[in-house]
Amino acid sequence: MQTAFRGKHFITLQEWTKEEIDTLLEVSFDLKKKFAMGQRTRYLEDQTVFLMFFEQSTRTRNSMEAGITQLGGHAHYLDTSTMQISHGEVPKDTAIILSRYGHAIACRNCFWEQGNKYLREMAKWSRVPIINMQCDLYHPLQGLADLMTMQEKLGNLERKKVSIIWAYATTHKKPISVPLTQALLFPRYAMDVTLAYPEGYDLPDWAITQARANAEAGGGTFTITHDMDEAYRGADVVIPKNWGSWVTNPSSQVVDDLLQSYKHWKCTEEKMQLANKNCIYMHALPADRNNEVEDAVIDGPQSVVFDEAENRLHTAKAVMALTMGGR
Ligand code: CP
Repeated sequence: MQTAFRGKHFITLQEWTKEEIDTLLEVSFDLKKKFAMGQRTRYLEDQTVFLMFFEQSTRTRNSMEAGITQLGGHAHYLDTSTMQISHGEVPKDTAIILSRYGHAIACRNCFWEQGNKYLREMAKWSRVPIINMQCDLYHPLQGLADLMTMQEKLGNLERKKVSIIWAYATTHKKPISVPLTQALLFPRYAMDVTLAYPEGYDLPDWAITQARANAEAGGGTFTITHDMDEAYRGADVVIPKNWGSWVTNPSSQVVDDLLQSYKHWKCTEEKMQLANKNCIYMHALPADRNNEVEDAVIDGPQSVVFDEAENRLHTAKAVMALTMGGR
């Protein structure tokens, strides 16, 4: 088990070894048990985490805020439109100042080809850990909660088939950071990962190359298909979720002809019949109900979405406890 995490940036799980991720999971399970038992876990007494949001959030904001309170610290919620960032203050200056005031800076910035660069720039100058609350490329807090949920539900993940499946949605042009994080992470746990999407919704080539290398090193497999049924067939876990065509079309327009031609990419009870009997349905949420998924599935017995969302709290606490505290 790794024991030295204090000050480590949490921008992508790809920069954390499997041993380090295993420790994050062990701490998450421990914190979950203590939360259930009503035990105090004031590991970060009097510590401050700044939560900078360029976009909206329900789970990430509240799991981080409730989490730091339960750890004995405090969060400052920062809507970046109310900061001097809106007058052009650069990430270097913001990071230097906030890191002199507190103990971690967490940030959500999903602007395409800008978000991850923004976090990297802050990490260059910050004295305290930078925690990625989702950028254009990665959502490591979500990936960690997903991994925890699959371990809870399935036990050993080796050679389990998990399918990351594109789904139709119209709410907003969603980032690729959730499927990209899952595609990189799950093969490291020896899972058989299928990435299914219609033409035009590709992930970046470098991510696919890395996912294949992770599968090779981790003992899993990584397969791409444009056949939705192939992804559902025999799956132990399905994660049907929308993402935008950012790689092939960086426009932020939400609905276009390409999107409208794939309305049938929906998770239905009929599709779930193709999967294994005990297959679980996961979604990072928010879900675009009746576009991405039928109510009968997301509210049905195979759905674990609320356990998955709850695990955002326990994993967020583990990330903060280890990177802000510890040794
Ligand atoms: N899954 C997730 O990150 O949810 P929010 O956008 O509500 O934070």
